[in-house]
Amino acid sequence: MLESRLIVEGGRKIEGEIRVQGAKNSSLPLLAASFLSGGTSVIHNCPALSDAYAACRILSSLGCKCKREQHSVIVDSSDADGFAVSDGLMREMRSSIVFLGAILGRTKRCRLSFPGGCELGPRPIDLHLEALKKLGVRIIEDHGVLDCTCGQRPARCDITLSLPSVGATENIMLYSALGSGETVIYNAAREPEITDLGGYINKCGGDIRGLGSSTVVINGVPELHGCEYTVMPDRIVAATYMGAAAATGGELVLSGVCPQDMYSCMSIFSEMGCGVYPYTDKIFINAKKSLSAVRTIRTMPYPGFPTDCQPIVMAVLCRANGSSMIVENIFENRFMAADELRRMGADIKTEGRVAVIEGVNKLLGAKLRAADLRAGAALIVAALGAEGTSVISNVRYIDRGYENIEDELSAVGARIKRI
Ligand code: EPZ
Repeated sequence: MLESRLIVEGGRKIEGEIRVQGAKNSSLPLLAASFLSGGTSVIHNCPALSDAYAACRILSSLGCKCKREQHSVIVDSSDADGFAVSDGLMREMRSSIVFLGAILGRTKRCRLSFPGGCELGPRPIDLHLEALKKLGVRIIEDHGVLDCTCGQRPARCDITLSLPSVGATENIMLYSALGSGETVIYNAAREPEITDLGGYINKCGGDIRGLGSSTVVINGVPELHGCEYTVMPDRIVAATYMGAAAATGGELVLSGVCPQDMYSCMSIFSEMGCGVYPYTDKIFINAKKSLSAVRTIRTMPYPGFPTDCQPIVMAVLCRANGSSMIVENIFENRFMAADELRRMGADIKTEGRVAVIEGVNKLLGAKLRAADLRAGAALIVAALGAEGTSVISNVRYIDRGYENIEDELSAVGARIKRI
């Protein structure tokens, strides 16, 4: 099948309003959690993304009945008793490791292969496995396959994460929600997606407290039921569209967002000289023609500046006046956009986890290749503000996280089409 490509004609202002999709990074663990209940859940505002479809395929392979009606996914896990996920399904998306905690939580055993690495470098799961072992899970690793069985779970288990891993926090919550015993996670991830997952589990009858703080307490309950739940908005997609407005000197209203999840992103755009105005569930951004460089941006766990927004902000800073520095503290190989941006005339130097961007007064359209999800989105942002036409390939990476990105951007003035 021929890969689709995006053709972007730069130089047009982004102006209008975009309703932002549901959060990919909340919908995936939420779909995994629906396996726990043994009932029927209706999950609204679930983005129509390749990763979400992959999650539904995993649920079906476990015996769930999955149906999608527009942006609502109905999962009936009453007859589901599977505990193994095939290698093929595991490789479809890196975050499929989050099924480990959910399957163990309900069936007390699980067999799945190590998740594929991804473009961001090795994606270890040592923190996930260490935590589950502390919770009494026996894990045999054999030729890339994890064979897990649950032993006696301690009445109380304190787990301190050496780093606030989002995935590890989610897997511990998913495993500890059902059953007896109290699990306390210290140095837990505080991302809004964690709060969303905990909100869903609690609505299913779970008992999780401290969501959004560094100490999360999970009291196992004897059973969970299904529920109706709405996925939170995608703060990274919202920031991406803010980047498109900033890169084209445009102005944009983002609706259906949670500004309180986005202060670290909003402040960077303000520092660049954009007007950023948050309202209850909207953000208004207007970008002057010329932007200012931002001296230092450090990616940090939430509530710090999110690593997923880093490539997007790098693309905007390519044309800001002055010199900006980005320090990528979360992933070891997350400057994949830099090579492609240089093909457009950007002046970016990367050294390990540090990138220095010297603003240039214009970028030129070029043939570009998306290397990963957010680096691909960064290329679109840069192409929108460039002179001339760009052709972006490997669009499948972008489709993992953005629903109909070309339609959304065309509706607010961009000249972008998929071929
Ligand atoms: C989640 O990945 C997100 N993915 C990522 O978004 C996001 O970048 C990341 O959190 C950080 O916010 C989903 O939610 C599906 P981590 P996750 O565990 O859970 C290291 C996107 O673009 N680590 O917090 O994998 C790890 O290598 C994606 O939407 C270990 O060393 O992130 C990384 O350097 C990309 N051992 C750092 O911690 C472990 O056991 C953060 O990882 C686990 C993680």
